[in-house]
Amino acid sequence: MNPDTCWSNLRDSAQILKKKHLSELLSDDTRFDTLSFSHDGVLLDLSRQRLLPETVDQLVALAEASGLKEKIDALIGGARVNITEDRAALHTALRTPAEKSLEVDGVDVVAGVQQTLQKMDKLVSILHSGQWRGYNGEAIDTVVNIGVGGSDLGPLMTCHALEEFKPDTVQGIDLHFVSSMDGSQLSGLLSRLNPATTLFVLSSKSFTTIDTLANAATARQWLLDASGLEVETILRHHFIGITAQPAKACEWGIPEQNQLLFWDWTGGRYSMWSAIGLPIAIATGMDGFRQLLAGAHSIDTHYQQAPFKENLPVLLALAGIWNINLLDIHAHAILPYDGRLAHLPSYLEQLEMESNGKSVTLDGADSDARTCPVLWGEIGPNAQHAFYQLLHQGTEAVMCDFIVPAKRYTEQSQTLQEQHRLALANCLAQARVLALGDKALDEETASAAPPWKRYRGNQPSTVILVDELTPYSLGQLIAIYEHKVYTQAVIWQINPFDQWGVELGKKMATAMLNELDEASPSTTLDSATRGLLGRINRLRHDSESA
Ligand code: F6P
Repeated sequence: MNPDTCWSNLRDSAQILKKKHLSELLSDDTRFDTLSFSHDGVLLDLSRQRLLPETVDQLVALAEASGLKEKIDALIGGARVNITEDRAALHTALRTPAEKSLEVDGVDVVAGVQQTLQKMDKLVSILHSGQWRGYNGEAIDTVVNIGVGGSDLGPLMTCHALEEFKPDTVQGIDLHFVSSMDGSQLSGLLSRLNPATTLFVLSSKSFTTIDTLANAATARQWLLDASGLEVETILRHHFIGITAQPAKACEWGIPEQNQLLFWDWTGGRYSMWSAIGLPIAIATGMDGFRQLLAGAHSIDTHYQQAPFKENLPVLLALAGIWNINLLDIHAHAILPYDGRLAHLPSYLEQLEMESNGKSVTLDGADSDARTCPVLWGEIGPNAQHAFYQLLHQGTEAVMCDFIVPAKRYTEQSQTLQEQHRLALANCLAQARVLALGDKALDEETASAAPPWKRYRGNQPSTVILVDELTPYSLGQLIAIYEHKVYTQAVIWQINPFDQWGVELGKKMATAMLNELDEASPSTTLDSATRGLLGRINRLRHDSESA
């Protein structure tokens, strides 16, 4: 079948299904069995999506007609799938076990990855055993990761999620994350830290990101002022650089022995599996980090080998295609029912929107299909007290992902176990009410209610249930979303691995920096920008002269 026929079949089905309410679909008692799928401890429940089992077959036909199988092989095999930057996107190689190999341009990338893992391992044991010393000989007890975007969000999200997996045999290291260019995180933090025992990890694939370099310069100055020592000593004892551009890191002053490297073929938002994951290895130990990689690798193998009808990332992607392209739903909420996943929504915002927020196809034409929806989220129970009102009674159709572990606190207090039951009950209740609306109530109560107490329902959702949240299952979860994003990009025929939209903003800000020092704004600027610059410059000069 060709893709056009697949789209046309799907459009016909959508005409019928748009008229059906989820309450009607859910009256089929076999629905959960036919529309939930599991692999290696992860359950993907699509039974609250506004589709039928035969719709899944039609979507699978679309994936096949789009050449997805070949495209997955190309991705994992190291083909140059990132065509606008002419390079591979080999995040899967970062979690490939040591006994395998993958040659790209005559180089075994798996061997290179393993060498870096060994270097990370060594560094982590030096830190954990208190052998990394600051400028006055005291052991480092605090690490501050300075990075932004992919050089921040993955490690931040994972360290927070896996805090309880901290190995108890090692010296405790406090971890902090600094990303915002305006210095607000750093200015508050530095006054609480001891410079003699603080190590900064400068994480930047390009080592040119101004946000990171500005924070790094402030950190370096703080250490110079506190120690009164020369810069070389400070850089040797207090700075590690993680980058794909070692020459740039050297230029900044990071000694070679303090550098951990990764490769151009690792996209920033796909880089938490590389040396960028150093904070994760510090927080969970190298074993925890390797478990994370193993979970992701299990999904890579599943993605490449499982038939699409059983393939979790493919099915998750296809549910999205159905909602976006056939049901016209363009808002997507990420709702973890586990406070440890507090940073997962921001992580997925970058992963999905920076990857698939595109409107030009691989051959340079304007896309005629809608692509990535607006994606946002929050810890589910907290969001219930914030934006769920819109989900339940607003005018927007929103697709939701509920993410929850079945078991938690198994060895802790009864009251904590009770709290997890509460979270589970809320997750199930919300998914149910969003789907059924008034039909979740008995008919008499529902029909007697005034309009402002009526619930339309019919909001589609997916539940992702993991047995427990562990480094392994978190690795699986993230890899499922990564491959979901790639699958959708294949169907939309866009490149998920570049981010030209973001690059322009970076360039324009550099030019604007000079304008902030000009007495009068350049006439080549638009009137709105000139107006604001004029006011800002007046205010700044007034406070300087006061
Ligand atoms: O903001 C765009 C971006 O290029 C992201 O893709 C990337 O993760 C982030 O900046 C940070 O880049 P770098 O790691 O090169 O500092």
